Amino acid sequence: MPQDSLPGTTDKRLASLLTLLAENATIVISGGRLAREIGVSRSTVWRWVTRLRELGVKVKGQTATGYFLEKVPDILTPDMLRQRLKGSLFGKRIYHFFKTDSTNRVALELAHGGEPEGAVILAEEQTAGRGRAGRTWQSERAAGIYVTLLLRPRLAPVQAPLLTMMAGLSAHAAIQAVTGLEVDVKWPNDLLIRGKKAGGILTEMHAEPGAVRFVIVGIGLNVNQEKFAGELGTIATSLRAETGKQESRLEVLVRLLREFESDYNRFLREGAASVTKRFEMVSSYANGKRVRVTNGNESFAGTTAGLGAEGLLQVKRDDGQVVTVIAGDVAEAR
Ligand code: BTN
Repeated sequence: MPQDSLPGTTDKRLASLLTLLAENATIVISGGRLAREIGVSRSTVWRWVTRLRELGVKVKGQTATGYFLEKVPDILTPDMLRQRLKGSLFGKRIYHFFKTDSTNRVALELAHGGEPEGAVILAEEQTAGRGRAGRTWQSERAAGIYVTLLLRPRLAPVQAPLLTMMAGLSAHAAIQAVTGLEVDVKWPNDLLIRGKKAGGILTEMHAEPGAVRFVIVGIGLNVNQEKFAGELGTIATSLRAETGKQESRLEVLVRLLREFESDYNRFLREGAASVTKRFEMVSSYANGKRVRVTNGNESFAGTTAGLGAEGLLQVKRDDGQVVTVIAGDVAEAR
């Protein structure tokens, strides 16, 4: 499917308008020149400028005098990403939405329609972002990174959950590299900074007996949020809240996709141990942590005792029995 025919994706020419304005930031460009360079009418430029303003992009000026960007917006346009991801698996098919319900939902639809491996689905805002265990993912406009990657790995279904952990490791490395912050990973997929949640991963898989057909890996990172609604206020954080300055979503995303690609290739080459060993090194939760595991109505306390071959967390219960956690929430117990 051509990338601009998917309903709701950002019109390629609208993205070009934004790129043109961004490349010439603070310089006034006439409506006529913009129209010529993009190949639309001046009235279309005017309509799109209005749309960009509605989306929070600070475009100053008017048709008669010309337009300029007051501030280069931190918008993850496919143009800018493609330029930064030349030669990468994830630089080829990028679907960008200013607003969608859930990038995972879009990715599932694309995957069922035969979309090839490597597609990247990105949104500036999600109205029904999905979290683990049926929760929702707060997806404030242009504050976080909301991205889903489509993979078609040759793996047995039992190995697919390792991709969730692997994505956590890629995000961990990307955040540390770009911000210098110290990040922890909580099994299976939470990114924590000073004990608060800064990101999460939701993997959804479609498999036939014995073989994966596709896996979609949805990654949500809190980058520039200044506050969180409701109970998240005390348990969530963002990179900006931790560093005290605005962080570039583009830099974090580019690094994340590069780390992901190299981790993915290594996983396919070397197998599960490339993920589990690294996870045990990086995560304070993998070994010797007092935790409470909750799954539905059941809950027990114990001490973590490493990961099994397929990446499942082992917990030594207080009665001495070692249990493998297949699903459920793991929380630090004091
Ligand atoms: C979690 O609960 O920890 C997982 C959160 C995953 C959120 C991301 S945001 C991009 C992608 N699209 C979704 O609807 N969810 C994931």
